[in-house]
Amino acid sequence: MPWLDWLSLFVRWFHVIAGVAWIGASFYFIWLDNNLDTPPEWKKKQGIKGDLWAVHGGGFYEVAKYAYGPQTMPEKLHWFKWEAYSTWLSGIALLVIVYYFAAAAYLIDPGVMAMSEAQAIIRGITLIAVGAVLYEIACRTKLANYPRVFAIALVILLVVVSYLATHWFSGRGAYIHVGALIGTIMVANVWLNIMPAQRKMVHAVAHQQPIDPAWGAGAKLRSVHNNYLTLPILFIMISNHYPMTYQHPQNWLVLVALMAVAAWIRHFFNLRHLGQVKPSILISGAIAMLAIAFWVSQPRAVDAGKAANQNTEASSVTISSTSLQPDTELDKQVMALVETHCQGCHSSAPADDIFRVAPLGVKFDNWEQITRQAPQLVNRTTVTRDMPFLNKTNMTDEERAVIAQWAAQR
Ligand code: HEC
Repeated sequence: MPWLDWLSLFVRWFHVIAGVAWIGASFYFIWLDNNLDTPPEWKKKQGIKGDLWAVHGGGFYEVAKYAYGPQTMPEKLHWFKWEAYSTWLSGIALLVIVYYFAAAAYLIDPGVMAMSEAQAIIRGITLIAVGAVLYEIACRTKLANYPRVFAIALVILLVVVSYLATHWFSGRGAYIHVGALIGTIMVANVWLNIMPAQRKMVHAVAHQQPIDPAWGAGAKLRSVHNNYLTLPILFIMISNHYPMTYQHPQNWLVLVALMAVAAWIRHFFNLRHLGQVKPSILISGAIAMLAIAFWVSQPRAVDAGKAANQNTEASSVTISSTSLQPDTELDKQVMALVETHCQGCHSSAPADDIFRVAPLGVKFDNWEQITRQAPQLVNRTTVTRDMPFLNKTNMTDEERAVIAQWAAQR
């Protein structure tokens, strides 16, 4: 599926750019808000509450924040909403391209739970939709009046979702679904609340009506949530490149712990912007990160064997279309090639001197795993030819031809 890889590349590229623009803009405005100085009297008379001067890229800039709104509507008003919408749209597109088009390889891990591709996709979409709707409902109840209690409820929701996702999907698939839920909550906050509040404000200014402070107050709670969720969601996005996190037997706990520490570190920056520098937060955050790294790196030789067995047992129940043993002579050749050239790295307990955990969670322990991930296996050995990694095991062109022939006959 080389075209799918190209599509994935372009959409991912776009997604990263849009995400940088979104988070960059929100970081910038948080910074602005916290650095405004009291303006001179004559500016206060114009309704300006705070202003600041900055120098950047060869020019001086002056930014002013109004206490309520300008007296007359400016001709041109910048909104900053498409950064959020396009990040979410491209993120969901990426979820579909990577995890739903190749669900058998990336989303389903029969060692965790055996299910069909359709079942996995439905569960994935349901998890995101139900999580986001529960959050939205909570925001519209009295709970929203108690920010601390709400924060605890939000943490509980994320813990439950992390637990469910890691008990349904492959580690990678689970992490990305938690990320997709957080991203959906964040964009819904912009779409369903922050934007409507801004629209009311703009309408009021345009019609010379007073601005109701309650509009901003509702948006405030959601802005705070979005603020604390930025570092956890960024971690989840890059976690796909670090299998030791999502491959861990308690991967849901690893995820929850890393999200919690990331939000804690965000707290340091939030307080610092308010002029309260608390190095203890940064230090305890760093110590907690090291503790997580230490815990996750503990050797677990026993689990690996168990996981391999589980895979075989679970798959014998449901994957009836793929046989569990190599049938033909060609199957056996491919099996032998994978044993020689891939298992050194891609197994439950890699023997490789550098890769101690299966890269990207791709394991070829048995025939079931090989056939389930056959499209990826064939692509990387015969099309992109970047596997075995750096051709460490010296796979020859003849051997690649055997795999291509096998692929043609499947
Ligand atoms: C020396 C270790 C090593 C060996 C041997 C090896 N790989 Fe890999 N494999 C890696 C690494 C590292 C990555 C991750 C590279 C990256 O991030 O793009 C990877 C990634 C992959 C992926 C991509 C997974 C994804 O989601 O994008 C596939 C498929 C794959 N390998 C298949 C194979 C096959 C098939 C073989 C045997 C012919 C093999 N590998 C041999 C180290 C190895």
